[in-house]
Amino acid sequence: MKKVITYGTFDLFHAGHENLLRRAKALGDYLVVGVTSENYDRYRGKLNVQQTLLERIENVRKTELADEIVVEEYEGQKIDDITRMGINVFAIGSDWVGRFDYLKEYCEVVYLERTKGVSSTELRSRQHPMIHFGIVGSGRIASRFVMESKFVSGATVDGVFNIRQDSAQRFAERHELSFYSDQYNEFLSRVNAVYIASPHETHYEYARQALLAGKHVLCEKPMVFSVREAKELFALAKSQRLVLLEALKTAYCPGFQRLISCAKSGKIGRIVSVDAAFTKLVPSNVREMQDNGAGGSVAELASYPLLAILKLLGGEWREMRFTSYAPTVDLFTRIDLWYPNAIASAKVGLGVKSEGSFVISGTRGYIYVPAPWWKTEYFELRYENPSDAEKHFYKFSGDGLRYEIVEFLNRITAGQMDEGACALSCDLARVLECYRESTDITYIKE
Ligand code: CTP
Repeated sequence: MKKVITYGTFDLFHAGHENLLRRAKALGDYLVVGVTSENYDRYRGKLNVQQTLLERIENVRKTELADEIVVEEYEGQKIDDITRMGINVFAIGSDWVGRFDYLKEYCEVVYLERTKGVSSTELRSRQHPMIHFGIVGSGRIASRFVMESKFVSGATVDGVFNIRQDSAQRFAERHELSFYSDQYNEFLSRVNAVYIASPHETHYEYARQALLAGKHVLCEKPMVFSVREAKELFALAKSQRLVLLEALKTAYCPGFQRLISCAKSGKIGRIVSVDAAFTKLVPSNVREMQDNGAGGSVAELASYPLLAILKLLGGEWREMRFTSYAPTVDLFTRIDLWYPNAIASAKVGLGVKSEGSFVISGTRGYIYVPAPWWKTEYFELRYENPSDAEKHFYKFSGDGLRYEIVEFLNRITAGQMDEGACALSCDLARVLECYRESTDITYIKE
């Protein structure tokens, strides 16, 4: 019996897929079809697949062309499948010519002419209109956003707003954007979503006006500094049927998501303590070091460790304490949170460097994530017996902003916000508000 194998995502199954399967089947007597898992697609940078693995398997099954369906989960699996199943022919579309020649060592490799004029990418873009982004602010993170958006289909950055027209113009020229503006309303009228990357204290007002103008909003962290503002913006977004999302890139990267699921699965027992740190050295003249009401380590960096703590322990803490070293703005702060059955601490340093680790302690073992844990690529489960340790590896692509952009687009497509994400942003705002208003901070001064 001559066995043929082919692989694909088979998202939004179309005539090109069917033709390929038919011709692959005709190459032998038995056809095996490999359908990529969600994780593997994310790993290889295919971030906006619309259908679930089960739906895509069902698409293939319904053709009745596949004698067997397998799930493709990792790099190098093709060699394993071919040798394990005794495959004679590997077939794939002509868009891959040359890429799979290395399989010739194991079986015959056939590139089949691709059907012209149809692809999942094209169907996806027809299904969902392109999101035209405008960026508010033109600093470093705004530049990174433009670069990262190129890895996400379904979104394009059209213009930039800055109250300083020359900055907006330079940014637009550097990134070849079609327009720039120093007039916010005019800017809003030319886009259907905004990414807010302006100074922290301006986020609320820019987000509010954008929502009132009917635009979806992806807002850099910290989105706002008070619960009232957070709730108001989310209520406004809901009433306008718009998406408002805080740009917490870590929250949407695959490694971090797996880490959280792993910690909550009971593999380390009951979680008793969470300790996360994030520190950064910056020149003393930068905006975030200025005493302008929005500077300092908490405003600038606390979102990261708090995200980790809130994801694991939730927003129902009983008490919160702050200890800050604050000769001018707070340069180093420890935030302690007491939960009914657990404790947590977030450490942030701006102009103070420390180990940026993340440790989740449980009754059976602990999870250790080295810096930069906020770009999660690796974590380790450790137990009393060192030989029980497990190491987990993931890919974190580029600067990671692509993950939050994909989440944002998915939410727009779904037509609704994720309630968990809204609650998390409100909890983050609650911590920042408490810090700003607390009269009970232990200050360590020079
Ligand atoms: N294929 C084809 N003709 C098309 C589209 C796809 O022959 N018009 C083939 C691909 O070459 C591959 C298989 O179908 O061998 C599965 O491809 P997949 O990547 O799932 O489909 P695409 O439509 O190419 O998806 P995307 O646009 O997301 O890359």
